[in-house]
Amino acid sequence: MKRDLISLTDLSSDEILQLLDVALDLKSKKGQLHDALKGKSVGLIFQKPSNRTRVSFEVGIHQLGGNCVYLGPKEINLGKRETPSDVANTLSRYLDAIVARTFLNSDVIDLANHATIPIINGLSDLYHPCQALADLLSVKENFQDLKGMTLTYVGDGNNVCHSLMLGCAKVGMHMHIASPKGYAPKEKVLSQAKEFAQSSGATIKLFTSPREAIHNTHVVYTDVWVSMGQEEESQERIDLFKEFQINNDLTALADKDYIFMHCLPAHRGQEVTAEVIDGPHSIIFDQAENRMHIQKAILMFLLGSH
Ligand code: CP
Ligand code: NVA
Repeated sequence: MKRDLISLTDLSSDEILQLLDVALDLKSKKGQLHDALKGKSVGLIFQKPSNRTRVSFEVGIHQLGGNCVYLGPKEINLGKRETPSDVANTLSRYLDAIVARTFLNSDVIDLANHATIPIINGLSDLYHPCQALADLLSVKENFQDLKGMTLTYVGDGNNVCHSLMLGCAKVGMHMHIASPKGYAPKEKVLSQAKEFAQSSGATIKLFTSPREAIHNTHVVYTDVWVSMGQEEESQERIDLFKEFQINNDLTALADKDYIFMHCLPAHRGQEVTAEVIDGPHSIIFDQAENRMHIQKAILMFLLGSH
């Protein structure tokens, strides 16, 4: 039966750890060409802009010997020009897998329910699983261990935060989340993550004070205050999140060997200052590079060619 990657709930803890090992191995081979996807075609349905997700998938698919078809908002116009089920049924006749970046997570689920090929979530309003897997890979690379480490996420309880929360819970990493009232992660995702945390020994703690949350943490993580699709709320959010900026004053409270992470794109002067994101603790470009290595491992896993 085909598998999809819509949320990290779709993978067991062991599968996540295996994907990280495969990705590290692929990374050590420095983009050496491979034929795992020889003769296979992967479609990228994107309703929103992208730099990292699009380019890392396209280049990764090329390195695995596969073919890639980019379908931007104008081509597919999901749900408007055609229903997700018609799109999924049609594209299943041509392609071997689809990466979908949508507004609604329910559109990714709809695609998965009707496609006969694997659907990979390339970011929706609820989740960003490929990002979270690349993030776990980056933490593992830096600290060797995941279990028992603490990651503090400061900012909006959004798609990136949700997937990180599920990922940390699955691999036994503690997570602190500091967000303004009303912007904490969604209760449903939090309770799923807490269930996984119980089995792995991880803890998840919510804060409204970034200073309390960041104390002695190993990883400091933030994301934009205004996600794609929320542009109309920009000013309100920028005012509300002011106290949640990552700056040197705040990171002084983290572990002295902390790493700073951000999924990018970033807004210097809003969620993070230039001194932190461009400073010695920042690993943002390793993190961006790791998107490609983990996504190659994901494709090999879902297309059964590892
Ligand atoms: N981090 C990330 O998904 O970046 P893009 O939006 O540029 O793909
Ligand atoms: N939360 C951001 C992540 C971008 C990679 C967004 O959804 O726009």
